[in-house]
Amino acid sequence: MQTSSRANRIQPSPTLAVTAKAKQMKAEGIDVVSFGAGEPDFDTPDHIKMAAIKALASGDTKYTPSSGTLQLRKAVCRKLQEENGLEYEPAQIIVSCGAKHSLYNIFQAMLNPGDEVVIPAPYWVSYPDQVLLADGKPVIISAGDSSKFKISPQQLREAMTDNTVAVVINSPSNPTGATYSPDALRELAEVILEHPTAVAISDEIYEKIVYDGREVVSIASVLPEMKERTVVVNGLSKCASMTGWRMGYAASVKSLAAAMDKIQSQSTSNPTSFIQPACIVALEQSRDFVNMMVEAFDQRRRRITELLNDIPGLTMDLPEGAFYAFANASGVMGKTFNGVTVNNSGELSGYLLDHAKVAVVPGNGFGLDTHIRLSYATSMENIEEGLRRIKEALAYNASHSSHTHCAVRRWGGWKNG
Ligand SMILES: Cc1ncc(COP(=O)(O)O)c(C=O)c1O
Repeated sequence: MQTSSRANRIQPSPTLAVTAKAKQMKAEGIDVVSFGAGEPDFDTPDHIKMAAIKALASGDTKYTPSSGTLQLRKAVCRKLQEENGLEYEPAQIIVSCGAKHSLYNIFQAMLNPGDEVVIPAPYWVSYPDQVLLADGKPVIISAGDSSKFKISPQQLREAMTDNTVAVVINSPSNPTGATYSPDALRELAEVILEHPTAVAISDEIYEKIVYDGREVVSIASVLPEMKERTVVVNGLSKCASMTGWRMGYAASVKSLAAAMDKIQSQSTSNPTSFIQPACIVALEQSRDFVNMMVEAFDQRRRRITELLNDIPGLTMDLPEGAFYAFANASGVMGKTFNGVTVNNSGELSGYLLDHAKVAVVPGNGFGLDTHIRLSYATSMENIEEGLRRIKEALAYNASHSSHTHCAVRRWGGWKNG
């Protein structure tokens, strides 16, 4: 049967693929340590679950307006006002089935064929493919370890053209945790405003998961003109540990919100009816739950950074936000371990899964093939055991060289270089 060129131009999500493979191996009885998950390992708080159970029991089981109930959109407006200092009306809010769905609708509603969307790399895996699905053209600009994975205003200026319709900003970032300061965001906003119609698509899903007291603001709030030029995307998956519920939202000017609503009304219709009252409860809950998670993630972040840097050939700075370790593995590329040569992040991830029974996500899906991503939203025991296995699997194998001493010294050299 025919498949469309649209479907053929994109890749399946590599993060979901790794998690699925690790789950399958576990189901087969193989003891796998998985660092694949892009979700907190804490359960959704009980009072949020209870609100959904109550809604279900009271018959909240029918269609709602496709953009979400008015009460829910009002709650989103209150959240954006109180926490981000941004004033919106319910008509500017579209609630969708996850922030991923919000982003999909945004690109579908905004792009014409050939329109350019600037995406800083490393990027979250879905941005380029969603742009391609909407017939747009992803324009990738790269920021590596040396710039703490943050693009400069100059880089952005050079990447933007008359065809640039949007710039994706994801701070804190998946996969790097990079978090732009308010000043840095203001400088990027100034570049965007140099183009009369370009907008920022600001994915703020990790806004509450930051460390060391970092200040997180929305690019929509850094200059008065920016609010009209930003689409804010957020959701409950990460901050309320509600990944399976599928709730995300976008806030924008009314014309874009109306276009998104039209698309949603002709595709999924409303997000699930009985989760919507519970989402209001989640939006209004205190910060205690997320603070508890951040405290746990912080300890794991420190430990995983320490353990990764202790593995010859791997390096990483302490991540600034989110719950991912994005480790530079260029020191192991081209090397042979247990008879397997690893030349890129895919081969390294495959080797680690086969030989160490550890699931990590290759960096190529995030636009950086020298790196691997490990989610530390997992127990400290898994972190200790998984990193022990990785270290063992990447230990220099003397049987593959007659220059053991030289090689051992070189490991140290890569580490410091
Ligand atoms: C940066 C980023 N944006 C959006 C999403 C989508 O979240 P959801 O669709 O679960 O709301 C994710 C999930 O991993 C993410 O990492």
